[in-house]
Formats: sequence, structure tokens, C-alpha cells
Amino acid sequence: MAVEVLTTADGRAKTAVSHAHAATWRAARAAGTPIAIGRAAPPDQPARPARPDLLDPRDVPQRKPGSPEGRLALLHAVAHIELNAVDLHWDIIARFSDTAMPIGFYDDWVKAADEESKHFNLMCDRLEAQGSHYGALPAHAGMWRAAEDTADDLLGRLAVVPMVLEARGLDVTPNMIEVFKRAGDKDTVAALNVIYAEEVHHVSYGSKWFNFLCGRDNRDPTPVFHGLVRRYFHGALKPPFNEEKRAESGMPPDFYWPLAAGS
Ligand SMILES: [Fe+2]
Ligand SMILES: [Fe+2]
Repeated sequence: MAVEVLTTADGRAKTAVSHAHAATWRAARAAGTPIAIGRAAPPDQPARPARPDLLDPRDVPQRKPGSPEGRLALLHAVAHIELNAVDLHWDIIARFSDTAMPIGFYDDWVKAADEESKHFNLMCDRLEAQGSHYGALPAHAGMWRAAEDTADDLLGRLAVVPMVLEARGLDVTPNMIEVFKRAGDKDTVAALNVIYAEEVHHVSYGSKWFNFLCGRDNRDPTPVFHGLVRRYFHGALKPPFNEEKRAESGMPPDFYWPLAAGS
């Protein structure tokens, strides 16, 4: 099921497959059906649509954040992040099936993938309501880099993807919501509020399973986290941090402050 999502290229089609498989999973779990996780070989790179053009971040044109074009570019960038997130969550399910994990690990990532699929479609709907669409603008290449860097390291994947990248989303989303509030775009504000609320859970799934794996090996999670982020994440973490939402998702300050720029 995960590999089918990863090998579907079109964004709306990928998220439809993702929703369908998440529903199948939920139904099987609710019915108490015995589930075998199985083995599958996920692709090195997930299939993606022909558009958007993927550019080096330095070559992606900057637009004024307060302008209508700037807001469209922001929505487009979020849509791109959400589509990548759909693939990231199905990838963690397929790629690390050699590591025995409780069934709840899969429940969490299936739910997260289902939510990212909704987020992508919410952003596409907002783009289309304004006469644009996902693919109309260039997007960042290299979004899959964190996945490639941690393809052999489940703890590293958990540290970098949910606990650094998705936690960063918690830091920046309130300002983004403000931008659309100021522009009077209530529908986008509502969509971003859904994303903001659900992303807290994705970070919490990351910290839950990170702590679980450290505890299973009798390791202290804090220095393990610092070591993995320094190894796999390129650059320092950028304050200000959303300490409240990070705390809600099980990320204590001593996890991220020692990795912050300037410390
Ligand atoms: Fe999301
Ligand atoms: Fe997420």
C-alpha cells in the first residue's frame, strides 16, 4: 500500500490512493483483523508530477510576502511541502519494516499520511480558487534529501523529519496564518488552522517513537537526538521556537536549544 502511494506521480491521484489505503487500514484495525506488515522495496525517490519544475532553492524566485503573488507563492510552497510529507510518512512505513515495531507505529504514520493528503488537497483547493494550481510555479528541489540521508537509519529519520522539519512547521505557521488574516482570506486561514492543529500530532508521533526506540536500547534520548541531528541535518535550528506547541508534541527545550544557531 505504501509503495503504491510512493509510485503514483500526480498529486491529486497520490493523495486519493493515500486516503483510500488509510481508510482500509483504519477499517481493518477497527474490525480487529490480524495485520501482517509485510516487506516492500520503496523507490529511492517517490514518483512526482512533471510540474512543478524543481529548482535549487537559490533559484526559486522570491516574491514580496505581502503581495497577492507572494501569498500564492506561499500556498504553492506549502502544497509542495505537504505532498512531500505524504511520501515521507508512507516511506517510513515501507522502508524500516525490518525493525520490529508495535502496531501503533503504523497507526500513527498512516494517520499522519492521511492528514498530509488532506493538507495537500486543501492547499490545491486554495490555489485553484485563486485561478492557480499546484505545478504553476517552480518549487524547491532537494525536499527528499532528508529521506535519502536517513534511508538506513530509523532513529535518524525520526530525529530529522518529524522532530526537526515538521517541528519547524509549528514555528513558522502562526506567522503564515497572520499573513492571510491581514489579507482577509478567511478560507485560507481556516485551511492553515487545520494544518497547524494536525502537525502537532505528527511531531508527537516522532518524539513518541524516538523515545520508544531509545528506551528499548536503554539510551538517553537527548544526546542521541543531538548527535543524529548534527549528523543528518545540514545547518543549525532557527529560533524563535514555538515552545508551547513543541512541548505539546513531546519536544522539551533541551532537545532543540543546544542545536540552535549561535549556541
Ligand atoms: Fe501537513
Ligand atoms: Fe506533518
